[in-house]
Amino acid sequence: MTDPRHASRPAQADVEHPRTIRSFVRRAGRSTSGQERALRELAPRFVLPYQARALDAAAAFGDPPASRLPLILEIGSGMGDATAHIAARMPDKRFLACEVHEPGVGALLMKIEAAQLGNLRIVAHDAVEVIAHMLPEQSLAGIHVFFPDPWHKLRHHKRRLIQPPFVHTLARHLQPGGYLHCATDWQPYAEQMLAVLSAEPLLANRAGDGYAQRPDYRPETKFERRGVRLGHGVWDLVFTRRESATATD
Ligand SMILES: C[S@@+](CC[C@H](N)C(=O)[O-])C[C@H]1O[C@@H](n2cnc3c(N)ncnc32)[C@H](O)[C@@H]1O
Repeated sequence: MTDPRHASRPAQADVEHPRTIRSFVRRAGRSTSGQERALRELAPRFVLPYQARALDAAAAFGDPPASRLPLILEIGSGMGDATAHIAARMPDKRFLACEVHEPGVGALLMKIEAAQLGNLRIVAHDAVEVIAHMLPEQSLAGIHVFFPDPWHKLRHHKRRLIQPPFVHTLARHLQPGGYLHCATDWQPYAEQMLAVLSAEPLLANRAGDGYAQRPDYRPETKFERRGVRLGHGVWDLVFTRRESATATD
């Protein structure tokens, strides 16, 4: 007879908090010494600890309380090239970058230091949890999701970020008039993005009914330039949050 102490059943914590499907795997890969130094020295100022309660954005950015600059969230900032470029270009906005890959966080910290960016903060945590717990609804002026992991294999499609329930959550976190900007170089994912975003009643496609031109604020990445030379495509999608789900174009 099986010893009940060794029977395989989920722990109580798993029953109460079932693990969600993640859109990332923690990649191996060590930080360089420069990234490690940046993590050590700059994280206390620029990396906000994940917390399961609303972020006090004014305190986190050190704004005077009266200042309410628009807040833009980036999901999966990678090595932070586009993030730092855009934050430098838009000093009148505040940027919150979510990234789980530590060397990427270190790389972005180095860029923050090099360009003296005061309007950018990082949360080194799953963006799905950050948006659910740290950011109130209608608190964001924009959301950037640039080249999210495409999860090519059919059995991994459930890990893709851009799916109806999460897009609905993203839309609810945008202020009316705020925008969701996604970009991908994987055509099947672009098609999924277009279908999912177009079906979300809170969102309206700025480009009418198709893909958008790359907005000038999004820099072309090295990888993207190479892909374009090789004849691969890149698709941008920019959707705006409607006043309410009942409004139509
Ligand atoms: C393919 S990379 C693209 C990075 C960057 N946006 C670019 O264009 O180069 C996707 C990034 O998203 C991050 N990521 C995926 N899911 C995430 C999540 N739920 N929260 C935070 N970061 C996530 C990964 O760690 C990875 O660095």
